[in-house]
Amino acid sequence: MGELLRWMVVLLSITSIALASLHGEEKEQDILALIDISLSLSFSSCDDINCDNGGSCFKGNCVCPDKTTGIYCEVLENPCEPNPCYANGNCSETEEGYICECPRDFFGTNCDVIQSPNYPDNYANNTDMTWVLSGIPDKYIQLQFDDVFQIEDSNCGVVDYSVPFGCKDYITITSGVDDDLDVEYCGGARPSPITAPKGSDVWIVFKSGSQCSYSGFKLNYGYIDTSIPTNPIASTNYPDNYNTSMYVTWLISGIPDKYILLQFEDVFEMEDNRVKSCGNVSYNSVFNDCRDYIQIITGDIYVTYCGGAPPSPITALEGSDVLIVFRADDSCSYRGFKLNYTHIGTIRHI
Ligand SMILES: *[C@@H]1O[C@H](CO)[C@@H](O)[C@H](O)[C@H]1NC(C)=O
Ligand SMILES: *[C@@H]1O[C@H](CO)[C@@H](O)[C@H](O)[C@H]1NC(C)=O
Ligand SMILES: *[C@@H]1O[C@H](CO)[C@@H](O)[C@H](O)[C@H]1NC(C)=O
Ligand SMILES: *[C@@H]1O[C@H](CO)[C@@H](O)[C@H](O)[C@H]1NC(C)=O
Ligand SMILES: *[C@@H]1O[C@H](CO)[C@@H](O)[C@H](O)[C@H]1NC(C)=O
Repeated sequence: MGELLRWMVVLLSITSIALASLHGEEKEQDILALIDISLSLSFSSCDDINCDNGGSCFKGNCVCPDKTTGIYCEVLENPCEPNPCYANGNCSETEEGYICECPRDFFGTNCDVIQSPNYPDNYANNTDMTWVLSGIPDKYIQLQFDDVFQIEDSNCGVVDYSVPFGCKDYITITSGVDDDLDVEYCGGARPSPITAPKGSDVWIVFKSGSQCSYSGFKLNYGYIDTSIPTNPIASTNYPDNYNTSMYVTWLISGIPDKYILLQFEDVFEMEDNRVKSCGNVSYNSVFNDCRDYIQIITGDIYVTYCGGAPPSPITALEGSDVLIVFRADDSCSYRGFKLNYTHIGTIRHI
C-alpha cells in the first residue's frame, strides 16, 4: 500500500506540473482523465481515510454507524427530521436519540398514547375529553387498546365482559367519514384494534357520568403503510402456525367498474380472547375481542375476524380499494388464514 501511495503522489505531482505548463483542450482532457485514474486508485486504499463518528474504513469507503451518513460519516442524521412526534409534539435531540414534548393529554415516546385520567386507577366522575388524531394522506391510523379496559356500562356493579350495550360512560371513535367506526364502547371487553379509513382524521371522545368510575382505557395509535399484495394472501407459514408478533398489511387497489371478491380457504385459525393457555379456538363464532386477527377494511365494510370459522366470501364496493390487516400478538400462534382475491365484473341485483 505504501508503495502504491508513493506512486500516486508522484502521479498527482506530474499532473499538476503538467496542468501548470500545458494548454490546449485535448491535453487538458488527458490530464483530467489521469487525475480521475489516480483518484479512483487512491479510493480503494484506507491509508489516508479517517472516518468520523466511529465509522470504519473498508476498501477505501467509510462504513458508517447508525445515524450518520456522508462519505466520511461526517453528517449526523437529525432524529427529529422528519418529526417523529405525533399530535404536533415538539421534538428535541438527546444523547440517546430524541424526546417528544407532547401536547396535553397525549403520552408515550411519540405522543402516540392516550388514556382516561388516572389510568389504570379509576377515572374521575364527569370527565368529558376529546382527542383529534390528524390523518396523513395515503396512510391509515390504527388504534390498539391495552388489556385493562373497564368503563361503566348499565349499572354500578361489575362491568360486563362480553359485548355490552347501554353504556353509561363510554368512549367513541369516529373517523369523520361516513363509516362503521361510530361505535360506543364500554364494559370490560377491550375493543379489537381499529383501523380508520385511508387519510382520515380520527376523533376520540371519552365521557363519564356522576356515579361510578372504573379503570378506563389506554390505547396507542400509529400510522401504517401497506405492502404490495401477492395473490393469494396468507399468514406466514400457512397452513402451519404463523409467527408471533406480526403486523402485516396489504392493500388491494380497486379497478373502476369492478368489484373485489375475497375468498377464504377452509383452514382458518386465529387466537380469540377465550383461548386459555393457547388452547383450542372457538370454531363457530367471530369475536369482538380478538387477540390475533385479520381485518378487512373497504368502503362500507369493516370487519375483524379470529377464532376457527373461516369468514364467508366478501365483496367490496365497486372500484373500492381493500385493506387487509393481519396482526399476531406475542403469545400463542395458530394456523392462520389464506385468501385469494378476484376483480369481478358487474353484480346484478335482482
Ligand atoms: C412547541 O413549541 C412551540 C414554540 O416554542 C410552543 O408554542 C408549543 O406550545 C410547543 N408545543 C408543545 C406540544 O409543547
Ligand atoms: C364518583 O361519584 C361517586 C358518587 O358521588 C363517588 O362515590 C365516587 O367516589 C366518585 N368517584 C371518583 C373517582 O371521584
Ligand atoms: C418466522 O419465524 C422464523 C423462525 O423464527 C424466522 O426464521 C422467520 O424469518 C420469521 N418470518 C417472518 C416473516 O418474520
Ligand atoms: C379462491 O379460493 C376459493 C376458496 O378456497 C377457491 O374455491 C377458488 O377456486 C380460488 N380461486 C382462485 C382463482 O384461486
Ligand atoms: C381441541 O381440539 C382437538 C381436535 O379437535 C380435540 O381433540 C381436543 O379435545 C380439543 N381440546 C379441548 C380442550 O377442547
